[in-house]
Amino acid sequence: MSKIFISCALPYANGPCHLGHLRSTYLPADIYARYNRMINNDVLLVCATDEHGTPIAVNADKENKKPIEISKRYHDMIVRDIESCDISLDSFTRTSDEAHYKIAQDFFLDLYNKDLIYKKNIQQLYCEECSKFLPDRYVEGTCSFCGADARGDHCEACGRHLEPTELDNPKCLNCSNTPVIKDTYQYFFALSKFQKDIEEYISSNNNLPANVKNYAGNWLKDGLDDWILTRNMDWGVPVPLDEAKGKVIYVWGEAFLGYISSASQWSKKSNEKWEDYWNDYAIHFIGKDIIYHHSIFWPALLKGYGCKLPDNIFAGEFLSLEGEKMSTSKNWVIWINDFIKDFDSDLLRYYLTINAPLNKDTDFSWDDFGRRVNDELADVLGNFLHRTFTFTSKYFESKIPDYTNPSKEDKEFEIAMDKVPSKVGDLISDFKFREALIEIFKIAKKGNKYFNDQEPWKAVKEDPEKAANCIYLSNQLSKILAICLKPYIPNKADEIAKIMNLKTSNEWKDASVLLATGHEISKPKPLFKKIDEEIIEKEKEKLYENLKSDNMSELISIDEFGKVDIRIGQIKEAEKIKKSDKLLKLQVDIGEKVIQVVAGIAQNYEIDELISKKVAVIVNLEPAKLFGTESQGMILATDDSVALLSPDECKIGERIK
Ligand code: MF3
Ligand code: ZN
Repeated sequence: MSKIFISCALPYANGPCHLGHLRSTYLPADIYARYNRMINNDVLLVCATDEHGTPIAVNADKENKKPIEISKRYHDMIVRDIESCDISLDSFTRTSDEAHYKIAQDFFLDLYNKDLIYKKNIQQLYCEECSKFLPDRYVEGTCSFCGADARGDHCEACGRHLEPTELDNPKCLNCSNTPVIKDTYQYFFALSKFQKDIEEYISSNNNLPANVKNYAGNWLKDGLDDWILTRNMDWGVPVPLDEAKGKVIYVWGEAFLGYISSASQWSKKSNEKWEDYWNDYAIHFIGKDIIYHHSIFWPALLKGYGCKLPDNIFAGEFLSLEGEKMSTSKNWVIWINDFIKDFDSDLLRYYLTINAPLNKDTDFSWDDFGRRVNDELADVLGNFLHRTFTFTSKYFESKIPDYTNPSKEDKEFEIAMDKVPSKVGDLISDFKFREALIEIFKIAKKGNKYFNDQEPWKAVKEDPEKAANCIYLSNQLSKILAICLKPYIPNKADEIAKIMNLKTSNEWKDASVLLATGHEISKPKPLFKKIDEEIIEKEKEKLYENLKSDNMSELISIDEFGKVDIRIGQIKEAEKIKKSDKLLKLQVDIGEKVIQVVAGIAQNYEIDELISKKVAVIVNLEPAKLFGTESQGMILATDDSVALLSPDECKIGERIK
């Protein structure tokens, strides 16, 4: 038995969790942890909320609250989200915990005393109005490389990391005044000293997957620069030096230690040493956007401290949504909490795993989700289990029949299924979670075929031995499925085990223990229901409707209202958008041209009634896609009904002030 330290990247406590978090990080970590527990490895799975940093402080300012109130709110939501998806964490703490502050400060001091953290005078942006320095997101402006709106530290449009001086027209986020450049000092981490160590770590560590090695290799090529490790602000872990009043450790300088502070809080409770786990085998599950931090900064910090480096880093790639990049600000996202209200978490776990290997970007699409649940979970797996169990109860008094004189088909099937647990286990050990799940489904498919070929419904009368053998083996496979599916869909796997009255299904090796003849199973019930197409359509509609309303509120803040161009238009054509109850596609004449507008008003008007009516249309919005249909404007409406204008009062194309 070995001990394994597994961590999930710490989610920022400034929003709930969405499907992207689950797919790239929590789910793979959980599958891996659950499997390892089943093979009797001793697992410690830790996480915490990452509660510092400017975004949380900025949100607190906006809401006139303290940062800790914001982070507490989201911490609670994240706990709810993670639990609802059955992520089997042993410890989930907060980087605002006292224990974390202590560990982070001790760590900082250790490096400082070794001269690996040093003080340097620099110039930074300062707002004279607010009397404060403006770190990171506290300043906004335009990116001097691409001209897009950008935040103090980062341009979303071109993906560059920015220094404040690389921002044109900088403005204080709080008061909009132009900041000045002012002398100050910060503490730097001597990252450049670790170039060799990190090169060595990356090249010699054969566990590291290709995406991690490639990214890290590229950064190393450019040479590592020392890294600014502190900020002038109140929210964060204070720099533990008397001379450094008003400075905190940069969030990326202490967040990693959340892995350790979470583990050490677990140690306190369990009286076990987390260090034993770390020293045996330590693996971080992260999203690919933070490979840089985990393959370079974190190992360098650890090296400086004099601690063993992580054995592995597993970086999940991204999830898009209906073919478009997810965006929380546009509300183009599915929140876990919303999903879980309507569907079992196991369906989501299944879909996010089977959909694509973790080292590839992939897409969540409602149609595909519905299809896979229906065709795979219900038709393949559910069908096999259900017919096995109902047949057992109907013709064999719910007892596992004898297995005698197996035929060639019986033997072939038996051999095929016997190989499954070890094959699946090896693939999971090798982080090939999807491939392993495919193996499970392959054998379930084979099970269905075998069942069909044996025709036990006929054989039961004509050749009872053949029927008995078929039901015997089908039950053996059902038990294998109950165990092998457990890391993936733990609730459903437990339901199978319960129907089968399995005494133990917690260990992987139970998959190879045969059910005895005469073992009695319980009354079966269907395990996987199909999802109606209508339900999927409703979900899609919700997604597109939320996008629309959110776009509106984002684009038309009170300040910006004057920039909105509202024209009188005349509806020329209207047609229903397929599969949507609410949306109509309208062709609207706005004078200089006819534009296409999607409006959610199908329930309020007949099509005929709308033709040639005049309406007020916002014409200067970014075109958006709703249900696959481009909308180039937006009709002004109260709730669901449009303000239809009386014909005489207004001229087509006229601008409304
Ligand atoms: N909160 C960070 C993010 O979501 C991840 C922090 S992982 C840690 O990008 F290790 F640094 F804590
Ligand atoms: Zn200001």
